[in-house]
Amino acid sequence: MFKNIFAIYAALVMSVGFSGNAMAKDAHSYANLDAVSSRHLHLDLTVDFDQKTLSGYAEYDIVRHDAAASSFIVDTRDLTINRVEVLGENWQPTTFTLAAPEAILGAKLTIALPDDAQKVRIYYRTSPEAAGLQWLTPQQTAGKKHPYLFTQSQPIQVRSWIPIQDTPALRLTYSARIKTPKDLFAVMSAVNDPDAVRDGDYDFIMPHKIPPYLVALGVGDLHFKAMAGNTGIYGEKYILAAAAAEFADTFEMVKVAEKLYGPYQWGRYDILMMPPSYPMGGMENPMLSFITPTVVAGDKSLVDLIAHELAHSWSGNLVTNGDWNDLWLNEGTTSYVENRIMEEVFGLERAKMEKALSSQGLLRELKTLEDVDTSLYVDLAGRDPEKAFSGVPYIKGQLFLLYLEEKYGREAFDPFLKQYFTAHAFQSMTSAKFITYLKANLMDKHPGVVSMDKINEWVYDTGMPDDSPRPTSDIFARVLQDQQDWLAGKISLKDIATTNWTVHQWLHFITNLPEEMPEKMMRDRMTQLDEAYNLTASRNNEIAHAWLLQGLKHDYQAILPRLKVYLPSIGRLKLIRPLYKQLATTPGGLAMARKIYRPARPGYHPSAQKVLDKILGE
Ligand code: BES
Ligand code: ZN
Repeated sequence: MFKNIFAIYAALVMSVGFSGNAMAKDAHSYANLDAVSSRHLHLDLTVDFDQKTLSGYAEYDIVRHDAAASSFIVDTRDLTINRVEVLGENWQPTTFTLAAPEAILGAKLTIALPDDAQKVRIYYRTSPEAAGLQWLTPQQTAGKKHPYLFTQSQPIQVRSWIPIQDTPALRLTYSARIKTPKDLFAVMSAVNDPDAVRDGDYDFIMPHKIPPYLVALGVGDLHFKAMAGNTGIYGEKYILAAAAAEFADTFEMVKVAEKLYGPYQWGRYDILMMPPSYPMGGMENPMLSFITPTVVAGDKSLVDLIAHELAHSWSGNLVTNGDWNDLWLNEGTTSYVENRIMEEVFGLERAKMEKALSSQGLLRELKTLEDVDTSLYVDLAGRDPEKAFSGVPYIKGQLFLLYLEEKYGREAFDPFLKQYFTAHAFQSMTSAKFITYLKANLMDKHPGVVSMDKINEWVYDTGMPDDSPRPTSDIFARVLQDQQDWLAGKISLKDIATTNWTVHQWLHFITNLPEEMPEKMMRDRMTQLDEAYNLTASRNNEIAHAWLLQGLKHDYQAILPRLKVYLPSIGRLKLIRPLYKQLATTPGGLAMARKIYRPARPGYHPSAQKVLDKILGE
């Protein structure tokens, strides 16, 4: 009986584009999708770099699920709402209430809905402090001549630049008209036309239903360089050639992923090169991943980031976590798929090293996390969903899928995962739904391999299961053996065959330098390493990061000049936050950190400023 009601309900809601089939209400949105949901958004916005505002309107096609519903509720943050109109027989003004803002959720906007309303149009303006927007001055870009604007909507910042039902339980298509200063070019997570006339007036259509956190916009002195197949690069001119060379394997990655997990559903896969202040590595905005320039290393050593954002085209963008409690369904599955892509394109040894590096990193990180935050499913009600972004959803999630792969074998697990993506394409997913699907389509077909208790332990228990996979690499074992022999004085550095070491080997070597060695001895060791390998001067941002961090931990002062250049030049939090944090552990270090930070601060993203202000007590 119940089962039937759910089935009918699910069919109903899916047919109108809101796939929250019988899910609990998202604790991070005021929207009441059960009553009224939006199925298409049209944006008409003017980008004003002087005022640092977007202004215009957002228009929704709405669907009623409750005939008695008399209001349409959307999420906002720091928006000025000028007026709201509804379309019934014709357009007419309607009343609305903007509630007092709540710290995490922002301000609930309740719009009165006449019985015959089909569309709602909200005229509004963003605040210069909008959390989801970064406004860069020309000085903060590489070209120095034009400003740059980009959005970051995940997890709940889209409401700071669009009044919207901001929950991933909703899916909608969108279109947009974006007006910019005449000499700038706009791109979105939608169909982009690289040949559009550069007249400051741009149109976009996203024909596929996406969750609101995937609406994205970039504006700047952007140009385009095509790569193979359906791939290409947008960015400031200075980086196009280098990025196209670095990411030349992108189309190969698309083909490999298609072979494993079914057709790429989004048309083109382009990359937008972000300014250096971009706070993240990448963001999987559909059709157009946003990517940090810090991975353009010259040797393709950091392109797992591209594999990751591309993988989201299946895990995350096609099958989407229903709310942020289930982030692991996006990020864990993506980390797993990412590594499978890397294995196909760059070989098993590299894939193994990348798995070993990240799982080692997770084990280190677990020691620093509160126990409650170490389960895959987390209850984030009352908390900022940003808090869910630790290594747990990523790497514990990846290890869970790896565990299943090892138990069932790729012959069974690969088709299962492919079918999972196909069966739930353009829908949202929860942990409970995932487990039900897993049981019916993998576990029950191969009884006795993995118990339901085990699955529940992985998803709902804290810490790591005892029998979790422990990725290793023979190449890494060699690196550590050499390191130990050198530290023990059995061999000298010139006995270690580092000439052909990859970035991964260097990272493994550096991050595993002993912590408990007396400081003076460690400083001597670091001096020797620097003399032999010039690590302080490394141009690889990951190697430099790992080395600078060790330098700070062991008070190896020769790194300081490099640190003072490194920190202000990079906005990617993963690379700079640990360094600021380490500096802040001593009074002298904290003073130095503040001295570096103050002039650098305006160049960082608002979200990065927030994090760093806190670390440095600013
Ligand atoms: N979806 C995330 C980006 C993100 C992170 C959005 C935190 C909102 C808050 C993206 O796919 C991602 O995971 N990026 C990683 C790279 C990855 C290789 C681990 C990043 O930015 O470092
Ligand atoms: Zn991701």
